[in-house]
Amino acid sequence: MSLPSLDDLEDLGGARVLARLDLNVPVRDGVVLDDTRIIAALPTLRWLRERVDEVAACSHLGKAKGVPDPAFSLHPVAAVLEQALGVPVRFIPDCLDPAAVESESGSVVLLENLRFHPGEKANDTHFAERLAAPYSHYVNDAFGTAHRAHASVVAVPQLYPSGRKAAGFLVEREVAALGRVAGAPEQPFVAVVGGAKVSTKTAPLQTLVENVSSLLIGGGMANTFLLAQGYEVGRSLVEEEMLDTARAVLESAAERGIDLELPEDVVVADAITEPQRVEVVSSRAVPAELMIVDIGPRTCARFARVLAAARTVFWNGPMGVFEVEDFAAGTLAVAEALAISSAFTVVGGGESVMAIRRAGVMDSIGHVSTGGGASLEFITGKPLPGIVALEN
Ligand code: 3PG
Repeated sequence: MSLPSLDDLEDLGGARVLARLDLNVPVRDGVVLDDTRIIAALPTLRWLRERVDEVAACSHLGKAKGVPDPAFSLHPVAAVLEQALGVPVRFIPDCLDPAAVESESGSVVLLENLRFHPGEKANDTHFAERLAAPYSHYVNDAFGTAHRAHASVVAVPQLYPSGRKAAGFLVEREVAALGRVAGAPEQPFVAVVGGAKVSTKTAPLQTLVENVSSLLIGGGMANTFLLAQGYEVGRSLVEEEMLDTARAVLESAAERGIDLELPEDVVVADAITEPQRVEVVSSRAVPAELMIVDIGPRTCARFARVLAAARTVFWNGPMGVFEVEDFAAGTLAVAEALAISSAFTVVGGGESVMAIRRAGVMDSIGHVSTGGGASLEFITGKPLPGIVALEN
């Protein structure tokens, strides 16, 4: 089944289009800290603006709990979008407000956070019908949200016949680039997976060990793997309930002869903020009173050697407490190793993308995905609900 593109949309004269975007950007004190996802939405918005009567952009932001919460308002995003797009963007304080459609021709509105209504996460049909009612067409350009079976990405497109719904340019670009990794990636295929938790990446990890030649694990999740191998990790973050999962991944890698690598040395500290003690130790000898905060220099060099021999690389998740300057070296080292690699390199996930930007190597990466969880699930071959809903 093929993905309908913007050119497949019919009857665009006088159309009102609901455009589901992923504008889930970091916002602190009303200030947008990173506009990557806003910029990534522009080509589709520009294309629509030139052809249709009204574009109503909608998105979620953060982990809103089904009720309005100013901390998760999209209001600050409207101003950034307006500036980037170069046309007025009217903000609508409730995504179900019918006032959204009282607009002039060629106008753009941004609807308030979809997750202020419980129906969004519940994939509720009634909510979907109310959201979609004013709009003749639907476009999904929210690749970062394509792995969520939520109303605006699943129930809403199901209400539109073919010719009235399409994938935007970003979704098309992501699917094409990530498809090179998901299908039959050129070997050696090396995946670098980090981030705090095993629990958020269990299924992808289990599938990745079937496809990669090397799996390099860092970040907080490596602690759970080290513990599963019988090593003490002091006061490091661990998920006791994930020990069996970690053992299963280790066994599966061993059975298949996959090179699964954990940090051989680590940076340990007594605290994340204002630490008094910061040391590099063997990952087999973590002092009981300290915690792992980054991969060590020997591990950086080892990971870089494996990456240098790769033909395809996928990276998701930081190698340590990357937001703290002193504990960012491992993550930045992976960014640099990818940049000098001649492999097809793909990076997904907010912090990994931030590391790529901080290392100044954005232009040296094959594809920088706007999706974290979505890119990880996509490359493991899992059908993404938001993509499937468009195809049907
Ligand atoms: C993301 O940032 O990965 C997407 O916007 C999805 O957000 P979610 O994890 O809150 O569903």
